[in-house]
Amino acid sequence: MTFKELILKGIPTSLSPRKEYKVDADHAPRRKEILSLEEKKLAIRNALRYFPKDWHSELSREFAEELKEYGRIYMFRFKPDYKIYARPISEYPAKSLHAAAIMLMIQNNLDPAVAQHPEELITYGGNGAVFQNWAQYVLTMQYLATMTNEQTLHIYSGHPMGLFPSSKEAPRVVVTNGMMIPNYSKPDDWEKYNALGVTQYGQMTAGSYMYIGPQGIVHGTAITVMNAFRKVLQKDESTAGKIFLTAGLGGMSGAQPKAGNIAGCITIGAEVNPAAAKKRHEQGWVDELIDKMDDLVSRVKSATKNNETVSLAFIGNVVDVWERFDAENIFIHLGSDQTSLHNPWAGGYYPVGLSFEESNTLMSENPEVFKKKVQESLRRQAAAINKHTEKGTYFFDYGNAFLLEASRAGADVMAENQIDFKYPSYVQDILGPMCFDYGFGPFRWVCTSGCAEDLQKTDAIALEVMEEIKSQAPKEIQQQMQDNIKWISEAEQNKLVVGSQARILYADAEGRAKIAEAFNQAIKSGEISAPVVLGRDHHDVSGTDSPFRETSNIYDGSKFTADMAIHNVIGDSFRGATWVSIHNGGGVGWGEVINGGFGMVLDGSEEASRKLKNMLFYDVNNGISRRSWARNDEALFAIKREMQRTPELKVTLPNLVEDEVLENLFD
Ligand SMILES: NC(=O)c1ccc[n+]([C@@H]2O[C@H](COP(=O)([O-])OP(=O)(O)OC[C@H]3O[C@@H](n4cnc5c(N)ncnc54)[C@H](O)[C@@H]3O)[C@@H](O)[C@H]2O)c1
Repeated sequence: MTFKELILKGIPTSLSPRKEYKVDADHAPRRKEILSLEEKKLAIRNALRYFPKDWHSELSREFAEELKEYGRIYMFRFKPDYKIYARPISEYPAKSLHAAAIMLMIQNNLDPAVAQHPEELITYGGNGAVFQNWAQYVLTMQYLATMTNEQTLHIYSGHPMGLFPSSKEAPRVVVTNGMMIPNYSKPDDWEKYNALGVTQYGQMTAGSYMYIGPQGIVHGTAITVMNAFRKVLQKDESTAGKIFLTAGLGGMSGAQPKAGNIAGCITIGAEVNPAAAKKRHEQGWVDELIDKMDDLVSRVKSATKNNETVSLAFIGNVVDVWERFDAENIFIHLGSDQTSLHNPWAGGYYPVGLSFEESNTLMSENPEVFKKKVQESLRRQAAAINKHTEKGTYFFDYGNAFLLEASRAGADVMAENQIDFKYPSYVQDILGPMCFDYGFGPFRWVCTSGCAEDLQKTDAIALEVMEEIKSQAPKEIQQQMQDNIKWISEAEQNKLVVGSQARILYADAEGRAKIAEAFNQAIKSGEISAPVVLGRDHHDVSGTDSPFRETSNIYDGSKFTADMAIHNVIGDSFRGATWVSIHNGGGVGWGEVINGGFGMVLDGSEEASRKLKNMLFYDVNNGISRRSWARNDEALFAIKREMQRTPELKVTLPNLVEDEVLENLFD
C-alpha cells in the first residue's frame, strides 16, 4: 500500500503482526509503577477501546506487558512502517490543504532525526508527547486526511475525540494537553492519569505540533547572552575575550556554546557526561574539548589575552570550575547554569566530588545519600558563585530551577528580604523587559514545499521587512530590531535546519504581521512555491503564564494566575488560527504553568491575509496589555504606541501610585 493509502486506512482492518521492540532506538525512560491492580485493568480497558472486540484477548496481554515493562501502553504494534518525516505538502492525502499542513507538522515532531524518543512519541524534554500511543496517531492522521474545511478535529491530550461540524472561519484543529482539575495537577497525577491513558504532558511545542528542532533554543539563548553582555559592558565595548561560564551540554543547554559564538565571547560549558560533551563537539556546536583543569585554565588565559571568540567544553563538574577560577582570579563577566535542576535527584544534577559513574550508581543504590551530596554540591556551587559576584560577575538563573533548588538546599542565595533570590532570572532581567514587554517573541514559520529555496526566499523577505520597519522604529526597540536583522541575515550560514524547512525570528506584533503579509503575497504570486505555516514557541509574550519563567517579571501578584494564556487561545481561535493548543506544564513542569499556542496556514488567499492581521495582532497585544496593566514600563510604552496606531484598540491603563501614598497606612 502507498503512503496515502495507509494514512486513509487508519486502524488496519486485520490485526497486523506484533513488532519487535527496537533495541537500538533512543527509548524514553521506564516510567514509575503507580497504578493499583484495578487501575491497571482500567488502563487496559481504556487502551482496548481503539480496537475491535475479537482482537482484545491478544492485545490485552500485549498491552499488559507494555504497562509492566515501560510503565505506559504505547501500542508499538500500530506504529506505521512508512518513514515519518515532514514530507512536501503535496504528498499528503487531504481534502483540506490546511489539514495537510497539520499532518506535515505532526510528522516533523515524530521524525527520528528530530524527536528525542520517537518510538514513544516523545519529541523533547523527556516526556513532551505528541500522542500517548500509536493508535491515536493513526486515527488522527486519518481524520486529518478525510476532513473538510467545514469540520473541526478536537484532540484531548493526544486522543482524537472526533470531527465536529464547524465553518471555514473556525480552526481545523483544537488541542488540549494535560488540562486537569487544578487540585489534580501534582507530578504523580501526571504519572497516574498518563498511565491510565487519559492525559499527557504536551511540553510546549511537542503536543502542539510546532517543534522545529534546536534552532528555536539557539536564537533565544543568543538573544539572552547578547543582552546579558549589554548589561555588564560599556556601550560599544566588544564581547571578544569576555567570559561566559555555564554548565550543561545536553538537549537544550547544548545551544549555549553556539549562542556564545554568535554573541562573540569566550564560552566555557562544563559537562560531566563525556558522551554529551563529545556529541556536541562532533556536531560542531562547541569548538574545543578539554578534559584537564590545568589545560582549561591556560586555554582560558590565552583566549582572554588574545580577545578570542571561542567555545570550550570542559569535561568535568562545573563546581570545580567556579572554585578554580576564583583561586586563579580569572574574571567571569557572565555566569549561569543549565544543568537539569527541574529533576535534581534522578540525574539532572551531578554533585561535585563524585565521578559521573559514581553518581549514577549512588542515585539508584542509595538515593538518600545521593540527595545529600547534591545539596552539599549546590551549597558549594552557590558559595563559589557568590565569591565571583562580589568581584563583579553578573549571574542569572536560566529557567532551570537552579536558585530554587539551591535555596531548598540551604545555599546562600536569598536576598535580604528572605523572600526573593539574590540573583535575577533571565526573564526578570533580560527577556521580559527587553523582549516580551515590547512584544518580541519566538515567531516562526515552516515552508511546506520542503524546499530550501523557499526558505531562502522567506529569509530574504523577512530581512527586507525588518530593515524597513527598523528605519521607522523608535529608539526603544532599535537594538532588538538590529539583533533580529543580524540573526536573519546569518541564519542560513549557521545551518540550523533539522527536519522541516523552518525558521525562527524574534519579532514584535508589527514585524510578525508585516512579514506574514509579505509571505502571503509571495505565495499568491508564486514566488514562494507552496503554503507557509506560521506559529511560535509557547515561551512568548502572551501564550504562557509561568510564575518562575515567562511571567516572572510580573510584579502585581497576578503571576500565579493563568487568565492570559486562556484568553490567548480562545482569542486566537476565533480570529483565524488554523489550529490552537493549550497545555498544562510546558517547560518548568506539570502544574507549574499554563501555556498555549497556534498554527496558521498562509495559502496566498484573501482570507489568509485578513486572518493573519487580525490574529497576530491579538496574539501579541493580549500579552502586552496584561504586562502594561502590571505596570511594566516597557509594556506601557508598547501598548500606548499600538493604541496610537490602531484606533479600534482600547486597553485599560493603570494609574501609577506614588510610594508615599502607601506609607504609614497600617501603623
Ligand atoms: N531558559 C530557557 O529558555 C531554557 C530552555 C531550555 C531548557 N531550560 C532548562 O535548562 C535545563 C537543561 O535542559 P537540557 O534540555 O539541556 O537538559 P539535559 O538534562 O539534556 O542537560 C543538562 C546537562 O547538565 C549536565 N550536568 C548536570 N550536573 C552537572 C554539573 N554539576 N556539572 C556539569 N554538568 C552537569 C548533565 O550531564 C546534562 O548533560 C532544564 O532544567 C531546562 O528546563 C531552560
